[in-house]
Amino acid sequence: MVQSRGNWSGTLGFVLAAMGSAVGLGNVWRFSYITGEYGGAAFILVYLGCVVAVAIPIMIAELLIGRRTQRNVVGAFSTLRPGTPWFLAGWLGVTVGFVLLSYYSVVGGWVLHYISLAILDGFAGQSTAAIGQLFQSLSANQALQVFWHAVFMTATIWFVSRGVSGGIEWGNRIMMPALFFMLCFLLVYALTTDGAAEGIAFLLTPDWDKISPKAVLEALGQAFFSLSVGMGTLITYGSYLQRDARLPRSALFVTASDTGIAILAGFVIFPLVFTFQLEPNAGPALIFETLPAAFGQLPFGQFLAVLFFLLLTFAALSSAMPLLEVVVAYFVDEKGWTRMQASWIMGGIIFALGVPSALNGGFFGFIDMLTTNWLLPLGGLFVAIFAGWSLTHQERQAEIPASDLRPVLYLGWVFLLRFVAPIAVTVILLQSIGLF
Ligand code: PHE
Repeated sequence: MVQSRGNWSGTLGFVLAAMGSAVGLGNVWRFSYITGEYGGAAFILVYLGCVVAVAIPIMIAELLIGRRTQRNVVGAFSTLRPGTPWFLAGWLGVTVGFVLLSYYSVVGGWVLHYISLAILDGFAGQSTAAIGQLFQSLSANQALQVFWHAVFMTATIWFVSRGVSGGIEWGNRIMMPALFFMLCFLLVYALTTDGAAEGIAFLLTPDWDKISPKAVLEALGQAFFSLSVGMGTLITYGSYLQRDARLPRSALFVTASDTGIAILAGFVIFPLVFTFQLEPNAGPALIFETLPAAFGQLPFGQFLAVLFFLLLTFAALSSAMPLLEVVVAYFVDEKGWTRMQASWIMGGIIFALGVPSALNGGFFGFIDMLTTNWLLPLGGLFVAIFAGWSLTHQERQAEIPASDLRPVLYLGWVFLLRFVAPIAVTVILLQSIGLF
């Protein structure tokens, strides 16, 4: 059974894949536009608080559940607690996989479109206004958006249909370090531009007046989104994991790199925002207005632009694959479908679900808010309660022995799972609908 599901080639393969899942559009595109909308430094601090106190403990719990059961999200809950309603938490994960991927793929399509724009003329010598216009014409062109969404989904389906190690592992080894170096290079450039001081001040000087309950909700949602936590991606990925991997260590490694890349991207984007006199709260268009403007100024800008958007595409694909994998693993394990059938049929349905997001910005915003700010934290809440309260110490320690997590840290983790994460998520969700 375990063999036929495939396994990672080793702990490194798994950690790279989990990083590939975490690092994606969330780090570059979403992190910068949300940080811009909610005012910079103070928002980032709240975000970091959510990562440490809520997302990391839940991430470890998801990996534990996955590796213990070696099953998909639904199967994992029903194996551990058969005959209870816990399988519904798994269902929520599969549902979120559908919905989240449907609009994620639309954004992946935007990135593909920017590769084509970069190849065609490379943004050189264009005014900031002309570059802003490029995004506006894309948003206005529904057929073009649906076309690129289809291309992105097809690529995702193709990789997932080839199976876990064949489809997901390759690429991560080269593409992720390459994206990191590319961002470092862009950072050096961004820091020499006129807007550098203002951009850095925006990221480092907290203005607490900007932190509303809505901002806290966004920070929480972004923490779940960026780390791919709250919908069972890591249960599914953990299910392909060998016994010798140390879960807490892997989780910390994934979190540190994911957070590091998001902050790095912030230090690239915001100096550029002020240099090109754009608004930090430009919304989802933010990176598509700032980065092309920068490439237009740089030597070899056309080459760099193509390379950058290509790397971002790979990062997006390695995040989209686990989203589809959650859905596919369910149909393969529980319904006996072949991987090929499940990938193409479910991928096709997800494509169709994404079409309204490509056609209508309002709908896109609604789906983004619903999945990121509500469904992921809700899924995370269930995992926290399940792993904190329903699982026994023996069950937890069978996966996380004292050699992997020292006893004090283990108790700290259980405390975060039992109290801090559930209370924080509940309070933040209730507060944002005005119940407090
Ligand atoms: N973490 C991914 C990103 O930052 C998005 C994602 C969310 C992937 C949830 C899988 C599950 O782009």
